Amino acid sequence: MEFTWTKKDLLSLYDLSREEILCILNTAEEFKKVSERNVKKVPALRGKTVVNLFVEPSTRTRVSFELAEQRLSADIINMNAETSSFRKGETLLDTLRNIQALQVDIVVLRHSCTGAPNFLARELNVGVVNAGDGAHSHPTQALLDMFTIREKKGRIEGLNVSIIGDILHSRVARSNIWGLLKLGANVTIAGPSTLVPKEFEKVGVRVCRDLKDALKDADVINLLRIQHERQHGGYFPGTGEYAKIFGINAETMKYVKPDALIMHPGPVNRGVELDSAIADGPQSVILEQVTNGLAVRMAVLFLVAGCLK
Ligand code: CP
Repeated sequence: MEFTWTKKDLLSLYDLSREEILCILNTAEEFKKVSERNVKKVPALRGKTVVNLFVEPSTRTRVSFELAEQRLSADIINMNAETSSFRKGETLLDTLRNIQALQVDIVVLRHSCTGAPNFLARELNVGVVNAGDGAHSHPTQALLDMFTIREKKGRIEGLNVSIIGDILHSRVARSNIWGLLKLGANVTIAGPSTLVPKEFEKVGVRVCRDLKDALKDADVINLLRIQHERQHGGYFPGTGEYAKIFGINAETMKYVKPDALIMHPGPVNRGVELDSAIADGPQSVILEQVTNGLAVRMAVLFLVAGCLK
């Protein structure tokens, strides 16, 4: 039976069913073909207006959403905090109410506050797409990660996925955990005990303190950046120490299966969580993740737009 998407917002993979996640991944497969054509544009969002509001830095997500909107033929407004009336004290809700009054259809929001997209989705009639909120959720990143895993491995169910690094502050980790568990993967998280709390075991992941243990059976290794901007204290002695114990380099690659995928959401801190030779090496799919992000974001915008009143 064909599945029908019914949500006007994409806020978190926690809220989505397995069927909804698969619907996005399957739709993204079709949109990936569009970007491989000579003419890379379709009229799916012609007449719709999308506002990209990024109140936190971004390269990949911002550019990828904007390109996805262009490829879908939407009209686009790009806003950033520095040049908006946030600087004069206007609230996020008032800003978005004004944008809604201009008959905008979808807002793509990145914000440092957990729950900001959920709040706006409740208050507004426009579609809201979460492009990353605080340490909470980054649904399109996890979707593009899962798309890449499925494309490369042919499945997600039953795969061993190890996520290594600053799990505590990572919206990418949370989103991957929710999505991967729903699709039947075995998820391991590893890193310093201060950044990988045991509490995560309650949601069904394996918490691992030893890097070799996290690497040896992994089909997929997803490395995360240390998020200094969200840390308020000394979680470990320094990046040199972190690289020595948890960094992926020629030495630690000896424990990695030869067909394991090396993934990273970016931006990569080369020489800390991942050495350049591995980031640019044959097992790395980091740039393919970026390519797939475009297809996934086209799919999300297309599905959300189809549910607007
Ligand atoms: N992966 C990711 O969210 O990267 P940006 O912060 O550059 O968008």
